Amino acid sequence: MLRRFLTLFAATCATAAVAAENAAPAAPTVLYLKAARIIEPRSGTVLQDQVITIEGHKIKTVTALAATTLPAGARVIDLGHATVLPGLIDCHTHVTGQPANFYEDIFRKSPIDEAMTAHLYARRTLLAGFTTIRNVGAGNYVDFALRRAIEKGEVAGPRMQASGPSLSATGGHGDLNGMSPYVRFEGDINGVADGVDAVRKKVRENVKYGADVIKMLATAGVLSEEESVGAPQYQLDEMKAIVEEAALWGRKVAAHAHGTEGIKMAIRAGVASVEHASFIDDEGIALAKEHGTYLVPDIYNDDYILAEYARLGYPEKIIEKERKVGRIQRENFAKAVKAGCKIAYGTDSGVYPHGWNGKQFAHMVKWGMTPMQAIQSATVTAADLLGWQTKVGELAPGFCADLVAVKGDPLADVGVLEHIDFVMKDGEIYKDAIAGQPVKQFE
Ligand code: ARG
Repeated sequence: MLRRFLTLFAATCATAAVAAENAAPAAPTVLYLKAARIIEPRSGTVLQDQVITIEGHKIKTVTALAATTLPAGARVIDLGHATVLPGLIDCHTHVTGQPANFYEDIFRKSPIDEAMTAHLYARRTLLAGFTTIRNVGAGNYVDFALRRAIEKGEVAGPRMQASGPSLSATGGHGDLNGMSPYVRFEGDINGVADGVDAVRKKVRENVKYGADVIKMLATAGVLSEEESVGAPQYQLDEMKAIVEEAALWGRKVAAHAHGTEGIKMAIRAGVASVEHASFIDDEGIALAKEHGTYLVPDIYNDDYILAEYARLGYPEKIIEKERKVGRIQRENFAKAVKAGCKIAYGTDSGVYPHGWNGKQFAHMVKWGMTPMQAIQSATVTAADLLGWQTKVGELAPGFCADLVAVKGDPLADVGVLEHIDFVMKDGEIYKDAIAGQPVKQFE
């Protein structure tokens, strides 16, 4: 019976193959987007009255409207007076979850609960205009499953780079601290690893199951119960081993680091980016510039933590740590901007509700960036950090057709990026409050 089935199956495939060979390949759909204003972040300029021609999933050309002939019967979408930008990029997300209640999140939920809701957060992120994210830290490989579902077109979400579990020292920011030694979570896949051999193995393990990037917790943090907020938690040889091993497998390393010393150790170890960078000093700023290390400062979420985390049942100890970090992180962000450090947009979404990713723009401008610089951090600079600089972050021929539009002018008021009116990813429309086009549907 099985043999019969296999023979039949083979015959069916062969017939299908012949049919496919004879049929003309389906022409990719072409779409013309009329844009009165395009922000071009690579050169920091604004283009007027353009036509973006999209063929299938990619941008084919960007040409002046006056010099473009739109073929009769072509599909044309007029975005009116809106401002068009490349799809936004958030380099520091935790899209698989968001806090609701400290106790319940730890003790009543399992990774299965997380997997049940991750796609909702991914969708909110996309509809907020973030067409690409780098997810740096998720337990139990839920991020890999989410990325797979998005890539297959089963759920709506941004294109993703995902790290899997963050590498952490025992008792460090990625461990569960402050509990009885008898509290264990059976089968939990996390990133706790100590010593050069173990961290190398953990990098390999993450890569084996799907990591595009390695996340390392170089120092203590805020939302964990260890004593310090910024003390180094890996030795330099462990940090170096992580970077070296990641490089062997073609992966970059993102280092969570709040503390002055740990930031410098991570930069010296060769990480691609320092996340948070809260207590960075002048030497750290100089080192980041010298090594070309990107800083990814999450300078919005202090507002949210201080306003909401007591209500969510977080221990006072944690909220006290946030009070130590919030303001100084913003002041040091301003210093790093002034010094000309490379700053990529990253918000730590999941610390605050997903979909609010755009709220950080206004803070970046308040603390020293021009609106154009803030937009560059979330497009070209972010794309450079991800190694996707020929793929996303610009509206140019051959790039993914990822773009957003807003009715207001983000160069006059960057806050308009908190409410994105039009979202296209891979040539498909996911949101349109401008031209009223139908949006992509999921069965
Ligand atoms: N995930 C980070 C941590 O727990 C959040 C820090 C948020 N606070 C801030 N000021 N950026 O350390």
